[in-house]
Amino acid sequence: MTEIVRNKSLRYLNTFGIDVKSSRYAEFRNIEELRKIFEYQEENNLNWYPLSGGSNTLFTRDYKGIIIHPLCSDITTRTENEFIYVKADAGTLWDNLVFFSIEHNLWGIENLYGIPGYVGSSPIQNIGAYGVEAKDCIYSVDFYDKKKNGIVTLLANDCNFGYRDSIFKKELKGKGIIISVTYRLSIKENPRLDYGDLKNEVENKGKITIKNIADSVISIRNSKLPDPNVLGNSGSFFKNPLLNIQEAVKLKNKYPEVPLYPHGDKVKVAAGWLIEKAGWKGYRKGDCGVHDRQALVLVNHGNSSGEEIKKLAEEIISDINTKFNINIETEVNIL
Ligand code: EPU
Repeated sequence: MTEIVRNKSLRYLNTFGIDVKSSRYAEFRNIEELRKIFEYQEENNLNWYPLSGGSNTLFTRDYKGIIIHPLCSDITTRTENEFIYVKADAGTLWDNLVFFSIEHNLWGIENLYGIPGYVGSSPIQNIGAYGVEAKDCIYSVDFYDKKKNGIVTLLANDCNFGYRDSIFKKELKGKGIIISVTYRLSIKENPRLDYGDLKNEVENKGKITIKNIADSVISIRNSKLPDPNVLGNSGSFFKNPLLNIQEAVKLKNKYPEVPLYPHGDKVKVAAGWLIEKAGWKGYRKGDCGVHDRQALVLVNHGNSSGEEIKKLAEEIISDINTKFNINIETEVNIL
């Protein structure tokens, strides 16, 4: 039987480094173990929450229920024409999968190097960076459906992917756990260098190779984003809001320098810019604050509570609303 741990500290299981406890905690290496954990959860009528890398969750209090953490981390491949289908278990460190793709010269996810977290979470919020989103390469997702007591395979088309969004955040939320994700990567060179300074950065390193792209992404990330091992954070705390054309034109007329990006029939506005413009960049109150190099990132300087970070986020949301009449939403799950 899988071990059920009581009063588990979650401090090292969330990248904010918030010091909370969970009343129960269990890890699974395979489906049988996961089934056992769910049996226990149901017998004891417990709330449950899947937590892998903990890079997208803000705990504001102790968790009453059972935290379920994946330990499975196999990577297997299958080849079909110029594609390699790489299936990685949910508990694979995201960067281990990207490293695997770089080592084997498999194109597709190199721009996503350096994102904290595990593979199992990558489809949930459709992780994205430097012009690429996970959905661009996801082929399928194996999801353990609690009610069916079995695995359902969703093809990418079934996942309703959107900007930091998917079916796993909506219809399938609380219905089960992602077990593995299959990425379809290409042996054909396919560099995507349209984002900001990425092209220059790669060219400065010499040839356009998958490794040079990944290294350039890391350099850009390091120049803006804090390392959660050094400064507690959870990447972008907020999503970039989507405006309709009229709203975007109005904003551009007032602030010609505002960064805007086309997004289907909407326009995405850089929330980091709005937050900086409103004067929050580098702000600190006690041990929580706004990162001084990227205003979209909230940080824990040491002993901040989750409640303090949540309060700061609410103040920022309200201020942006007052100053720009724009509603920004959190990207992070607040528990
Ligand atoms: N900007 C500012 N001030 C700031 C931050 C940004 O003026 O404090 C401006 C930048 O100068 C730039 C624009 O806003 O003109 C966009 O900034 P950046 O390139 O840093 O990207 P972002 O929109 O702030 C998004 C993702 C990041 C991802 C980067 C790169 C979201 C919520 N965030 O940030 O993802 O790494 O693009 O692709 O979409 C994450 O999701 O956790 C994350 C870090």
